[in-house]
Amino acid sequence: MTRYRRPMELREVPEPTAGDGEVLIRVRAAGLNPVDYKTRDGAMRLVMHYDLPVVMGNELAGVVEGVGAGVTRFAVGDRVFARVDHRKMGAFAPYAAVHESLVGKMPESLDFAEAAGLPLAGLTALQGLRDELGVTAGDRVFITGGAGGVGTLAIQLAVWLGAAVATTASPRGETLVRSLGAETVIDYQKQRFKDVLHDYDGAFDLVGGQDLKDSFDILKRGANVVSVAGIPEPTTARVDLGLGPLLTAGFWAISAPIRQRARRRGVGYRFLIMHPSGTDLDLLAGLVDGGQLKPVTDRVFPFQQIADAFAYLEQGRAKGKIVVQL
Ligand SMILES: NC(=O)c1ccc[n+]([C@@H]2O[C@H](COP(=O)([O-])OP(=O)(O)OC[C@H]3O[C@@H](n4cnc5c(N)ncnc54)[C@H](OP(=O)(O)O)[C@@H]3O)[C@@H](O)[C@H]2O)c1
Repeated sequence: MTRYRRPMELREVPEPTAGDGEVLIRVRAAGLNPVDYKTRDGAMRLVMHYDLPVVMGNELAGVVEGVGAGVTRFAVGDRVFARVDHRKMGAFAPYAAVHESLVGKMPESLDFAEAAGLPLAGLTALQGLRDELGVTAGDRVFITGGAGGVGTLAIQLAVWLGAAVATTASPRGETLVRSLGAETVIDYQKQRFKDVLHDYDGAFDLVGGQDLKDSFDILKRGANVVSVAGIPEPTTARVDLGLGPLLTAGFWAISAPIRQRARRRGVGYRFLIMHPSGTDLDLLAGLVDGGQLKPVTDRVFPFQQIADAFAYLEQGRAKGKIVVQL
């Protein structure tokens, strides 16, 4: 891993302007995600190139303060939220300019801090379960790591899609994941889930490592594992990242063992990198306001304490989301 020389610091930045098709958002709160510390640590450098210095931060909630030419969906004063363009970032700042296609109207029933933690994890869960796993009513779905930022939303979205959900959690997260709709909860510190579960219709892996490998063993033949924490594969490179043949070949090589393992079990394997989408955010907002989806916020930090927020997130014990408030 190649690290950046001066990875992260607080400093004054110029206010951005809204370009064509962009809205200028006064940021009121921003969500933290593991990708933030992975980016800071240089773990994403192979696939993500930034012109340094760059304003970090991948999701936000705030108020529209200005609109660029051609903007049709938003007006000054709208309360909005967004997973910003991952090639640009920019959520950890007082203002962000974001293309309107990536922005959604904030759920009316949420405050800014609650809404700021929804875009990245919510879109990940929605796209993983609905688009990649194709979860339908009556499916039995297994989700690793149900108590975290993505897991707390994934459980609820799988239930909304009509699935019965099994998940892993420690005793610290068990009550929470049950309250969100998980029917079967396995304490991963005491038991291997592959000793208990079998014939599942799909698995959504948020943990990676041995959990990803074990998830192949609990599925029906022909079912799929979608991971967001395991090993990227050629579709990740081509479709999600738009990389060329050389890097795609590299992803093919590093994922060969895990794809072979899946093949031997008769199941499919896909590593997904979520994509920003204002349309999907509107869907999530509708579910929140309709009472079918409830964001879970673990802690809210003042923006000045963002380093503490990073340290807390990096412990990997968060129940739901970590947010900074501006
Ligand atoms: N590819 C993508 O587009 C994408 C998008 C979003 C996230 N991700 C990745 O998905 C992963 C999860 O993200 P997140 O935001 O949900 O992380 P997170 O909020 O930091 O997850 C922390 C939670 O995971 C639980 N946990 C830790 N180890 C576990 C294990 N072995 N089994 C079950 N639960 C465990 C912890 O609870 P206990 O300590 O109580 O067990 C804690 O509640 C990260 O690797 C992230 O980078 C990828």
